[in-house]
Amino acid sequence: MKFFADTADIADIRDLAETGLIDGVTTNPSLIHKSGRDFIEVTKEICGIVDGPVSAEVVALDHETMMKEADKLRKIADNVCIKVPLTLDGLKTCRALTDDGTMVNVTLCFSANQALLAAKAGATFISPFVGRHDDNGFDGMQLIEDIRLIYDNYAFETEILVASVRHATHVLQAAKIGADVMTAPPKVIRGLVNHVLTDKGIEGFLKDWQSTGQSIL
Ligand code: E4P
Repeated sequence: MKFFADTADIADIRDLAETGLIDGVTTNPSLIHKSGRDFIEVTKEICGIVDGPVSAEVVALDHETMMKEADKLRKIADNVCIKVPLTLDGLKTCRALTDDGTMVNVTLCFSANQALLAAKAGATFISPFVGRHDDNGFDGMQLIEDIRLIYDNYAFETEILVASVRHATHVLQAAKIGADVMTAPPKVIRGLVNHVLTDKGIEGFLKDWQSTGQSIL
């Protein structure tokens, strides 16, 4: 499963990129606001740090303006992936961009039927928001299972990008279902390494090592 960092924080992206764990980045207007940076400038910087897809979201609601925004955004770098909302205008924009060879991430997906539409519109990625789905009394992971089943039934090539990931269990469940990608905040990605027995094991080994009186260097 590919890991995308869900952030526009350059320091976090650089740090995670050094681990070799990051296959791409997702941003949205809220994350750009949080970064305090100019949208175009920060997107360009992110595209220079990671080789994989970097999602940059349009903010227009109509197809014509979405296309103009997308045209500006895709000129930033070859690895820009245009993010469009799951609306009819968004899907129309998805089809036009896909036919033109541009990667598209269809975002704000909350139903399997919406995911079906995105695949039919040729989306590169579909982004179901599991955390927000859970928050509203639905089962986010059931949504991922349903989309996996439908995409496999028809051999759609659209990749399932599990978004709005809040904790390690979301990551584990997404991997077990066979999602193609998950995007999570840096804190969640770093947290995946933690295990109390790992910490305890290191502590025990170091204590015994000190008792040997030896040094490797
Ligand atoms: C990813 O593309 C989404 O923008 C993001 O995962 C949304 O997450 P949130 O629900 O935590 O804002």
